[in-house]
Amino acid sequence: MEKNIVVVGCQWGDEGKGKVVDLLAEKADVIARFQGGANAGHTIHAGGKKFILHLIPSGIIHREKICYVGNGVVLDPFGLMDELEVLHAEGIDTEGRLFISSATNLVLPYHKMIDSLDEKKRGGNGLGTTLRGIGPAYRAKVGRFGVRLCDLYTPEKLKERMSVYMEMRPEYFSDSRDERADIDKIYDDLMAIAPKLKSRMTNVSIELLKHYKNGKSILFEGAQGAMLDVDLGTYPFSTSSNTTVGGALTGLGIGPKMIDLVVGVVKAYTTRVGSGPFPTELSDDLGLKLREDGGEFGATTGRPRRTGWLDLVALRHACRVNGVEKIAVTKLDVLDDFEKINVCVGYKLRGEKLSEVPLDLSQLWDVEPVYREFEGWMSPTSHINKFDALPENAKTYLGLIADDLGVGICLVSTGARREETIVV
Ligand code: IMP
Repeated sequence: MEKNIVVVGCQWGDEGKGKVVDLLAEKADVIARFQGGANAGHTIHAGGKKFILHLIPSGIIHREKICYVGNGVVLDPFGLMDELEVLHAEGIDTEGRLFISSATNLVLPYHKMIDSLDEKKRGGNGLGTTLRGIGPAYRAKVGRFGVRLCDLYTPEKLKERMSVYMEMRPEYFSDSRDERADIDKIYDDLMAIAPKLKSRMTNVSIELLKHYKNGKSILFEGAQGAMLDVDLGTYPFSTSSNTTVGGALTGLGIGPKMIDLVVGVVKAYTTRVGSGPFPTELSDDLGLKLREDGGEFGATTGRPRRTGWLDLVALRHACRVNGVEKIAVTKLDVLDDFEKINVCVGYKLRGEKLSEVPLDLSQLWDVEPVYREFEGWMSPTSHINKFDALPENAKTYLGLIADDLGVGICLVSTGARREETIVV
């Protein structure tokens, strides 16, 4: 496998990136997370335990690896402290091996309050956000009202910056009694954790270049998926960051030559959580079966995920915008007892056939999927650890996906545990 790999989601998130990163992390020296925040929920099953990480790179579970959180992430500092405590309680020491960019913007309690208020105001047209304050924190960042990790160490500036932010938003703050808008409390709470975070603060760009020059192998961990990218996804039903490969460069301060390979994670069917277009959604018993068999409930919010067939048109888009060369296919086992499996190979938009996404991705509301039907394999795959040993129909299914996308398959996951994986 190539040395420095970016792992990105190719659908609407929840593709199983946590497991893929965990597996690839075994061969890496360094793992760096580049965007998103605590909206993510990366699930890892290791040593008989289940870990759900929201902010800390999944590679942290490997005790000797060095992990970085890049400037492209929006970091909830209090959520981070909770996550550190959980890891500590599990005997996973992060001291001296988890570092955060000094330029990382913080998600503060009032960002979460604004997230909830905005969703309420949108009423029935809400985005279905995770309510983790992600949109408001990125908005503050690009509006240049953000609070960054390094600001915790110039307290006078910090308080002033928070005050100006609030004064300029009377619609949220003028008569708010929500304790999440209590600036004195937020300030005190930040001051209480600042000393604990200081030794973790670093210039991630400089550190990664050092590792690179020393011949270390770096794994770049993305969150969410291509179809949720703020520029390239189903805007406005997207998240607020660049979930695609460009986000790794700006979110960590690295050059493109540091990347040898982009691995796209593709779930064997499709899910989406929150609002927005989803052409292959199944609103019938088959959709329910996918949800139940796949355990499709949000790792962050617990919300039931919407489910549907694999969408090759969306995947063509995801692979193109990311330069994906290899894919890791996850949750193949969930399809083990489907007699027939559909794959969307094109769309119809008002009578016109499309093999690529329309110019305006919001037209995904109106497209009709064109399906190709496959015979299911109707036998368990979880115990299989060689590609050739997979049922013929499963190989045909995977072969079609890889051929259509013009990519290789590097991993097939057939269960939550590390052992339930086929390395190709
Ligand atoms: P936000 O990122 O919380 O603002 O949510 C915006 C949209 O992205 C909503 O539809 C969320 O459900 C979705 N979303 C955000 N993070 C994830 C994720 O990690 N997995 C799946 N969907 C996500």
